[in-house]
Amino acid sequence: MKTIHLPAPARTGGHPFLDLLRERHSSRGFSDKPVDMQTLSDMLWASWGYNREMKRTAPSSHNRQEIELYLAMSDGVYLWNAVQNVLIQVDTRDLRKSTGMQEFVGTAPIEVIYVAESSRITGKDERGIVETVFIDTGFISENLYLFCTQAGLITVVRAMVDRPALSAALNLRPDQMITMVQSVGYHK
Ligand SMILES: Cc1cc2nc3c(=O)[nH]c(=O)nc-3n(C[C@H](O)[C@H](O)[C@H](O)COP(=O)(O)O)c2cc1C
Repeated sequence: MKTIHLPAPARTGGHPFLDLLRERHSSRGFSDKPVDMQTLSDMLWASWGYNREMKRTAPSSHNRQEIELYLAMSDGVYLWNAVQNVLIQVDTRDLRKSTGMQEFVGTAPIEVIYVAESSRITGKDERGIVETVFIDTGFISENLYLFCTQAGLITVVRAMVDRPALSAALNLRPDQMITMVQSVGYHK
């Protein structure tokens, strides 16, 4: 299992915000063109990086920061450590096709798997936990959409996921909940 040290992300610049909103959309027609490490680092920071001491580019309930990003790519699955900006390999298999049920799933170079560490959420009942982790995922997902629009990438967020099967494939603990998956890559 390897660890990939990502280059420092760009934190300034980009297209005007209202232009990004005008152009944001979902796409599913991916080419197999890979995403380079600089773009990947920029993408992760924009989506869910630290932009202040202990706080991030997306809000989270009580600042619990319970969402972790796993990346399924052709050479394995990686967990992003946002503090160190490293990708820690957790599986050597190509599990991209296991991240959804639709025909195009597995064609994108990156499948971002949103995994909530639900044990970090205390004082809520089951419904409250589910609401929290899906809402917190949604903020990160929109950041990722807007970054993709800015970077010339395409993306689609997906709820249609066989969560028990993917959880088993990733060997997740019972308190780790897959919320959504988001495919990222270039247009074919
Ligand atoms: C909660 C949620 C779940 C979604 N699940 C899927 C999905 O499983 N598969 C898919 O192809 N698109 C999925 N989408 C993408 C929507 O189909 C898409 O956002 C919608 O058609 C509007 O298109 P737009 O994103 O281009 O504005 C999902 C979007 C959201 C917000």
